[in-house]
Amino acid sequence: MRKLITLLLITVLIVSCVNNSEKETFINDLLSQMTLDEKIGQMNQYNGFWDATGPMPEGEYQKARYRDLKNGLVGSMLNVTGVDNVRALQKIAVEETRLGIPLIFAFDVIHGYETISPIPLAESASWDLEAIEKSARVAAIEASAAGLNWTFAPMVDISRDARWGRVMEGAGEDPFLGSLIAKARVKGFQGDDLSAFNTIAACAKHFASYGFAEAGRDYNTADTNEYTLFNTILPPFKAAVDAGVSTFMNSFNTVDEIPATGSTFLQRDILKGEWGFNGFVVSDWGSIGEMIPHGYARDGAHAAEIAANAGSDMDMESSLYVRKLNELVTSGKVDISIVDDAVSRILGVKYDLGLFDDPYKYCNKEREKEIIGSKENQEAVLDIARKSIVLLKNENQLLPLKKNNQTIAVIGQLANDKNSSIGNWRGRGIANSAISVLEGLKSYEGNKLIYKKGVDVYYGDTNFFTRLDINYSDRSGFNQARLAAKSSDVVIMVLGEEGFQTGEGRSRTNLLLPGLQQELLEEVYKVNKNVVLVLVNGRPLNISWADENIPAIVEAWQLGSQAGNAIAQVLYGDYNPSGKLTMSFPRNVGQVPIYYNYKNTGRPSKSQKTVTASAYSDVENSPLYPFGYGLSYTSFDYSDLKISSDSMNVNQSIIVSVTVANSGKYKGKEVVQLYTRDLYGSLTRPLKELKGFKMVELEPGESKTVNFTIDNSLLKYYTVNKKWESESGDFNVYIGGDSNVEIFKKFKLID
Ligand code: GLC
Repeated sequence: MRKLITLLLITVLIVSCVNNSEKETFINDLLSQMTLDEKIGQMNQYNGFWDATGPMPEGEYQKARYRDLKNGLVGSMLNVTGVDNVRALQKIAVEETRLGIPLIFAFDVIHGYETISPIPLAESASWDLEAIEKSARVAAIEASAAGLNWTFAPMVDISRDARWGRVMEGAGEDPFLGSLIAKARVKGFQGDDLSAFNTIAACAKHFASYGFAEAGRDYNTADTNEYTLFNTILPPFKAAVDAGVSTFMNSFNTVDEIPATGSTFLQRDILKGEWGFNGFVVSDWGSIGEMIPHGYARDGAHAAEIAANAGSDMDMESSLYVRKLNELVTSGKVDISIVDDAVSRILGVKYDLGLFDDPYKYCNKEREKEIIGSKENQEAVLDIARKSIVLLKNENQLLPLKKNNQTIAVIGQLANDKNSSIGNWRGRGIANSAISVLEGLKSYEGNKLIYKKGVDVYYGDTNFFTRLDINYSDRSGFNQARLAAKSSDVVIMVLGEEGFQTGEGRSRTNLLLPGLQQELLEEVYKVNKNVVLVLVNGRPLNISWADENIPAIVEAWQLGSQAGNAIAQVLYGDYNPSGKLTMSFPRNVGQVPIYYNYKNTGRPSKSQKTVTASAYSDVENSPLYPFGYGLSYTSFDYSDLKISSDSMNVNQSIIVSVTVANSGKYKGKEVVQLYTRDLYGSLTRPLKELKGFKMVELEPGESKTVNFTIDNSLLKYYTVNKKWESESGDFNVYIGGDSNVEIFKKFKLID
């Protein structure tokens, strides 16, 4: 048997080597035929510039780009979707250019293509890696059926600042969980075979530190140090590389005062050097040209020179490579080897996708019709939507709702909104196509529902490029809402953010419920105390007043196409909520950035009364809801924390176990979380670090012992020696239902 396995491994190794050498031979052979301009063309990505299946390009802009396309000066297009459009453009590249090199078609498939799943921040709250991978798989199946071969996802930026609107695209504040989710999403998009017609190249973005934009203001300077970079920001990117991600996208911000697009340290030293990444890096939109306003490049040519030499392989929409790189190469400012390396990487991804074998493999009209929006896909996004909901509060078991003979007031513009739950970065999600909360509730016919808008949160329509008109004055709907609440047994208030109030360019200086929603909530609460607050939002919000007054609070995020059904199933108890927060909720915006894995400081605060300690005079340090927090309709008790030994060396491991019991009356799922604390090191160390988690499902009265193994790999970090290593010393280990867990055991790591 052993011989057979060895033989098999050797065969696999030989086959992969043969494949690689075939790929290398193919690429080198093609490269040798290419002119300098054709090589530069592969490094150029254009946005869709006309409806390729419609009339020919009009206007100088379209005609010039059409000429570039026909002359082989375009390697990729973004925002071109649909089999007809893709086929028409691919036909020009393949049949009308000298070498017929196929284009690679990219799109932001961030949380679904047309069937929309929850925003990634919501999905991360499921802690269900299989469901997250499945969600990305469904997105890839639909996107590839629409002719696409490349998505600009997963966004793996760690962020601790809810003022930054792009937190909705990420997986929260923790690098351990963020790394596992990055891996799951890359696998979901790329599958096991990138050459299959239903898998697409993924793109880890935005490399790097974008989520640390100062003051949460988008595109702003990110000012971190090397150790935060390596210990917090880079791990999900490295996880994406380990998962075989095909591409990276750099970021708009500066890292160590240098724009990431022009950072040799990030793109060559770390990504392509230390990590051995052999895919390619695409710039972010126009980020090469933006090095001029950054004050880092003299002019366009200088920006192109910096970016190419620093390892930005493809230029998204600054047109500087296609206009300036030829002169830079002939003048020796950019060596031809830089261009050849970039082009080889780009051709390599096209080769892996099978585009050279069949450039039209993604262009199948029947598949497009059959796959996109299918019932199966809707069921998949409903599943992950339910799992993403977090129960934040449930006093007096107000939830789940009784299914019969109740009069329920449903209040809030967002309750009847079929658009907001599609969220930002909605791909080709169809406007107003989501199941609204009201529609979901109406599918339960045993109660009487009274819907009142209460207040306009916003006016008119909005889209990716416009800002909303928020209502701060019209209270004309308040009275109707009060009357409805007064005559009801229970009130469901659906409040939060419109779909485009988070995402790119949506930074806020406060985290309150937008507009007059808070006022409406307080008015309704005055006439009926049985209020269930359902939040439809894209970021942690300041809901301190609600936490003090409202008996039940459900964090429902922007859950995608099946939002209303998922929310109704949770409110009625057909799905017992199991989500756990992956970003801390602040008591107010003054606490931000706020996160669970913070440093203790030399003056840790135990009480606000101690003036000379690290505390505020007006608010306690702790978040309103911590990382890892989420309730269930049942209750889970933790007991009997055990550790197999109180010391280990780097070659040993320790088993830590706890008993989890379902002490309530509902079957439920619990995310059991493992944290460690390294009490001292060559650098100051966080008070807690997530090092593992397991989902357990328990019947009422059932209990299970949950085991975790701690080995040396979990104790490593990027130390003062600038390398990943563990350091002997004292550790605490915790197991609990959120990052506030206090019971721990101690152990030593010995030399
Ligand atoms: C945007 C975003 C990036 C996106 C790209 C293409 O500006 O920063 O995440 O993938 O442009 O749409």
